[in-house]
Amino acid sequence: MAVAPNPALDTSTPDFRAQTGLEPKARRTCAEQLGRILADCYQLFIKTQGVHWNVAGPAFYSVHKLTEEQYEALYKAIDKVAERIRALGQKAPASYTTYGALSIIKDEDKPQTAAEMIAMLVRDNGLLCASLREGIEAAEACEDVVTADLLTGLLAYHEQASWMLQMHIAN
Ligand SMILES: [Fe+2]
Repeated sequence: MAVAPNPALDTSTPDFRAQTGLEPKARRTCAEQLGRILADCYQLFIKTQGVHWNVAGPAFYSVHKLTEEQYEALYKAIDKVAERIRALGQKAPASYTTYGALSIIKDEDKPQTAAEMIAMLVRDNGLLCASLREGIEAAEACEDVVTADLLTGLLAYHEQASWMLQMHIAN
């Protein structure tokens, strides 16, 4: 006799109806914004870690330490953003190909000098900040205060990250 499948073991339908008072359209809109931000965070994560590994010169130690703090913060942010997408009932994007397509931060492994590497990270932190602002605006329009709060915290961190990096190449 065939055993009836257990619906709890069905992993083929990752989206679900979150019953938390947000309308389905609002949940989808916010999850889409969060998906783009997740992609931006992953792109910036790998580039920040690349600078941590490859930077050389008189500022080596401070840039090496600063980028370590920053990629560790991004790693935590990635998990929070992805889990927020799930709490909104949507599937979190989970492939480098998808991240490359979704993110405004592009793959790049060219900068040679410490100044070029830092300038790249300053620009990319700025792009992430712009993405976060768009996400906050969308979340507020949908009355998703939890997403707005999460993204506001990340924005504060990356504005500061941008400042700290920029001071390494200031005259
Ligand atoms: Fe390290």
